[in-house]
Amino acid sequence: MIFDEYYIKSLIRNVPDWPSPGVMFRDITPLFKSPKAQRMVVDSFIQRYVDADFTHIGAMEARGFLLGSVISYELNKPLVLFRKQGKLPAKTIAEEYDIEYGKAVLEIQHDAFESGASILLVDDLIATGGTLLAAATLTRQLGGSIYEAAAIIDLPDLGGSQKLQDSDIPVYTLCAFA
Ligand code: ADE
Repeated sequence: MIFDEYYIKSLIRNVPDWPSPGVMFRDITPLFKSPKAQRMVVDSFIQRYVDADFTHIGAMEARGFLLGSVISYELNKPLVLFRKQGKLPAKTIAEEYDIEYGKAVLEIQHDAFESGASILLVDDLIATGGTLLAAATLTRQLGGSIYEAAAIIDLPDLGGSQKLQDSDIPVYTLCAFA
């Protein structure tokens, strides 16, 4: 299936002033409700990464799990979870970060991967880049490196994708809302 950016963007719902005034929320639920659109998105990532030599997929809670899980399944590579504070059992390391509408803490288990691992970070959307930058920090703390940060949507006006690239993290997104 050929990737159709206009079709995919038409299935992302724009919700003004949610969850707080001034935020234009990009809602991917219509996209995931469409099996055709979901397949188009997933296939694009699989085509890009089928021969890539990263070792693990790192998925961001919560919407990154929707993509990370299926990419991990298709590529037969291990999935590791970056979760919000207090959700992961056993020993974790944590990193605080800014999001578009507040602050949050991201965690990963200390034994998520071995030192030397190369991680593809996956989320649904890049806004300020806070989540993915925190994930990159945690990855590097455990001795891993970042292969790339992948998302369906980039919001370039919020500067996150530029900030990631300035931190030596390659970025790949399927569409942008500017
Ligand atoms: N996460 C951070 N900012 C967002 C936005 N504008 N839409 C959807 N998810 C977001």
